[in-house]
Amino acid sequence: MQPAELDLTRYSVWLEGETDFAGWRDAARRLALNEIRPEDIGWHVAASSDRPQNDLPEVPRDAQLVVPREFIDHAETAFCHCDPGRFAFLYRMLWRLRTEPRLLAIASDPDTRRLETMEKAVRRDSHKMHAFVRFRKIADGGEERYAAWFEPDHFIVERNADFFVRRFTGMRWTILTPYASADWDGERLAIGPGAAKADAPDQDDTEALWRTYFENIFNPARLKVKAMQKEMPKKYWRNLPEASLIPDLIAGADKAAIEMIARMPTTPAPHHAKVQAKHWPMREPAEATDEISAETISELRDAAKGCRRCPLWRDATQTVFGEGPDNAKVVFVGEQPGDQEDLAGKPFVGPAGKVFDAILDDAGVDRQKVYVTNAVKHFKFEPRGKRRIHSKPNAGEVQACRWWIDREFALIKPELAVALGATAALSLLGKAIPVTKMRGQVVEREDGLRVFITIHPSFILRIHEPSEKEAERARFLQDMREVKRLMAA
Ligand code: URA
Repeated sequence: MQPAELDLTRYSVWLEGETDFAGWRDAARRLALNEIRPEDIGWHVAASSDRPQNDLPEVPRDAQLVVPREFIDHAETAFCHCDPGRFAFLYRMLWRLRTEPRLLAIASDPDTRRLETMEKAVRRDSHKMHAFVRFRKIADGGEERYAAWFEPDHFIVERNADFFVRRFTGMRWTILTPYASADWDGERLAIGPGAAKADAPDQDDTEALWRTYFENIFNPARLKVKAMQKEMPKKYWRNLPEASLIPDLIAGADKAAIEMIARMPTTPAPHHAKVQAKHWPMREPAEATDEISAETISELRDAAKGCRRCPLWRDATQTVFGEGPDNAKVVFVGEQPGDQEDLAGKPFVGPAGKVFDAILDDAGVDRQKVYVTNAVKHFKFEPRGKRRIHSKPNAGEVQACRWWIDREFALIKPELAVALGATAALSLLGKAIPVTKMRGQVVEREDGLRVFITIHPSFILRIHEPSEKEAERARFLQDMREVKRLMAA
């Protein structure tokens, strides 16, 4: 902390703690609305006993501060970073955003890059906390009670406490870290001050349990030793009873199992913002607003990031929006993103996307020149162990997502739409149609849009018999050649 008398700036802001985002936000709003420049502000943290009163200007009447909503989300995450310069840095970003509203979209801007790097570090640290906190039983007047010691790199206890409440609701537990502690008594969560490692227990009879647990869930894919070390840095090994098992498990691993698991779909990146938001109900969900004034596909895509029009956003990693030129002549519509699309945030990049790309290529259709999107923009799946199994969106989900499709079409104004499969046809035509029967036909909508009907490329993937597969591929190629002809017509 910088003593007040050495602070030569015009305004000093005293925050109540390292994670006092509400205090920062209020001060930043007042200062920005009074045109106080970043270099005129000193930011400090002090405990209540020696914290001077903040003397900040009032908000001028009728003044409004307009910054992109997503900035607040980004700032809240970056605020947990251990960088002592973050308060000033975030204010500088806020300051710039008033006159550069697209700043967050400029990936090459040093401030935007710094914000992203800080957020990544915080999310990664949170992921580590979820994975590596180990509770140990402690004696507490005959009642069961658990305590854990954890050393985060950033100020992440508050934002992750709720995760542990959900995971260990039935236990009484305390997580101690050097800067803060979280305590759950079965009903109430309390955030307290930091502790010393000596305050946490070292050994107990839950050690054996953890070891058994680890042996049972051991996954040979972890044997990518580098990846394993990256995921479980040595720093955390000290606190993990199972770490002593790792060499044996490495020696006993079976190559086939490794290959099999490497082929499996991945579970969603646990550090993703979506997953964070799910574990953190205090955060307000973006509204399912009808007042989006996007004038470009890129603005529409940004708006869709916070889509809550149906419940699928809860389990998906992110919105997977359409991609392609704003003035494409043809829009291809698939069903919904799959596992890989959900992780990558891009449509048709997984196995079905590879088939689609190859056949488009054979047909002479340049994917860069067409727009590719999905009827439903969030991945719907059933978890099965580590895998996420595709689950067909229902009519309500298709209907909810038509809001986005309609706006994509209104902006792009294509000459032709291609419905890849039944869900796309339902979305585009507003009614279920027999795709195999109508395949190859063009249906004209009331608004004049022509919709070409064909199968979904994943249908080809699901055929095992080689000659049938080849025949189906040839039929789909024929359909894509017809699309190309219609494009040129
Ligand atoms: N299937 C779809 O319908 N869309 C994708 O983006 C990927 C697979």
